Amino acid sequence: MDNPSESKVEAKETPKPQGVATPAFVEAPKPPTSVKPAAAGIKKPKQDRPPEDDPGIWRISRRNFFSVAGWAAFFVFLATSTVGTLRMMFPRILYEPPSAFKAGFPQDYLVDEVSEKYKDDYRVWIVREGEGFYALSAICTHLGCTPRWLSTENKFKCPCHGSGFRRSGINFEGPAPRPLERLKISLADDGQLLIDRNIKFLFEKGEWINPDSYLKYS
Ligand code: FES
Repeated sequence: MDNPSESKVEAKETPKPQGVATPAFVEAPKPPTSVKPAAAGIKKPKQDRPPEDDPGIWRISRRNFFSVAGWAAFFVFLATSTVGTLRMMFPRILYEPPSAFKAGFPQDYLVDEVSEKYKDDYRVWIVREGEGFYALSAICTHLGCTPRWLSTENKFKCPCHGSGFRRSGINFEGPAPRPLERLKISLADDGQLLIDRNIKFLFEKGEWINPDSYLKYS
């Protein structure tokens, strides 16, 4: 049986206003589109080269900067350690000429000659007299400069502060406080002069009378 309440209800339609057309749909307003330069007819300027203040490949961020600095510090440390290790493996040694050396045969020297043959290598003058030889240290007793032998003035003259020494080695002018030192001189087994720079004789101590400070030879 049909429901009597349903049969009594009539569908009521909403009355439409007459004379007003209902649009099919309402179009949402479009946002304004950006105008492309090309479309707008604006030409982009050509960039053949970067601006002068453009750092190019050196453009780094702050993080990269600290990374590069860290690696640089590491390599500097590594290089320093390597150099230090190498220097330990090859210690610096001062190669000095031997303290004793042979200075040729007595007959190679002229009487009254001051020989400068060994001055550059050993800082020694060899003086021959009528009775024999002595060896003088070519080290100024003032501050250690190397004097020059002035044969015309028959003296040694220091170029640093002007000290003068006689042929014997005695100081007579300038600030040098004492005479030049004499060195041990003897004859080697082969007959050559043998000079030992390690054994010195000081005039002020009366050591020039020591037989090793003078080689008798005639
Ligand atoms: S070092 Fe020779 S006079 Fe001073």
